[in-house]
Amino acid sequence: MCNEVREENFELNLTMENKNTALIDQVSNEGFIRQEVDPALDLAQEIARLKREKNAIILAHYYMVPEVQDIADFVGDSLALSQQAADTEADIILFAGVHFMGETAKILSPQKKVLIPDLNAGCSLADSCKPADFERFIAEHPGHTVVSYVNTSAQIKALTDVVCTSSNAVQVVESIPADQPLIFGPDRNLGNYIRQVTGRENMLIWDGACHVHEEFSLERILELKKEFPQAKILVHPECKKPIQLIADYVGSTAGILRFAQTDTADTYIVATESGILHQMRKSLPQKTLIAAPPMDSMCGCNDCAFMKLISLKKIYLTLKYELPEITVPEALRQKAEKSIRRMLEI
Ligand code: 13P
Ligand code: SF4
Repeated sequence: MCNEVREENFELNLTMENKNTALIDQVSNEGFIRQEVDPALDLAQEIARLKREKNAIILAHYYMVPEVQDIADFVGDSLALSQQAADTEADIILFAGVHFMGETAKILSPQKKVLIPDLNAGCSLADSCKPADFERFIAEHPGHTVVSYVNTSAQIKALTDVVCTSSNAVQVVESIPADQPLIFGPDRNLGNYIRQVTGRENMLIWDGACHVHEEFSLERILELKKEFPQAKILVHPECKKPIQLIADYVGSTAGILRFAQTDTADTYIVATESGILHQMRKSLPQKTLIAAPPMDSMCGCNDCAFMKLISLKKIYLTLKYELPEITVPEALRQKAEKSIRRMLEI
């Protein structure tokens, strides 16, 4: 309550100009705008109004909470979102996703304002690959073509020859001559999956991982399978190998959705972040969809805590004040853009 009162006064005492300075300070300290919003306000309606007024578009990843997916102009996987970001006519892109996704949009559309509702929305996989370490690794293995997953910082993309996503990783690797040695980073599980599918032995794999996808429990998925013997198991390639081995299908979030839409089974156990279930349930109301359980039944670790930082309220405040904004220094942007464009051309 004390906080609410202070925040209200804080609003009242500021002119527009110094309000923005104060908000910029707040965003650089906290990563998002912390402000009370009238509970009677229809956030979805206000967001739609601000979008029209500002010619803004909202791009949302499948891992967003349902109410965020429902107000987005486009919901998709990393590949589709980067294609949308490259093509949009909007003046403002509000990215309802994690930082590397907004950063990729800014790299592809530098003339546009790219907003993200919370700068704290990071990615444990992107964090498992630090630029100085990756640069050293590349220098230790000269003559290798560097393929990086899109779940990386702009600095890593600038060190990369070609970016890929989980939708096109096999295709990207296969586009490189078979005798050309590769470095693949940062996801070890996706890297091993590509190696197994392509038979590519000349590929060094960075030892990084996503904390959400590594948490799924083989034992508990097998118990579910006993309970629902007719269920098919759908797995994201960031999951560990034992989980991939029991899968009926391995693929990106978009691939998992497509598979369930075209397949004839009526029950699926889905091993990826639980946000994907929202679009699956909307498009397949007649099917039974079960979120694969993590090892610890109490931890809720099949939710990505970073993705779940994005709320309707933060989206509203972000559109209203056009903060936080993602910026990328121009020299870095140009270097990083080449590897993303190369992927988009494949
Ligand atoms: P997709 O390529 O399926 O969108 O996956 C992105 C991601 O962050 C998976 O954890
Ligand atoms: Fe990163 Fe994993 Fe979250 Fe995807 S689910 S954004 S890889 S931490």
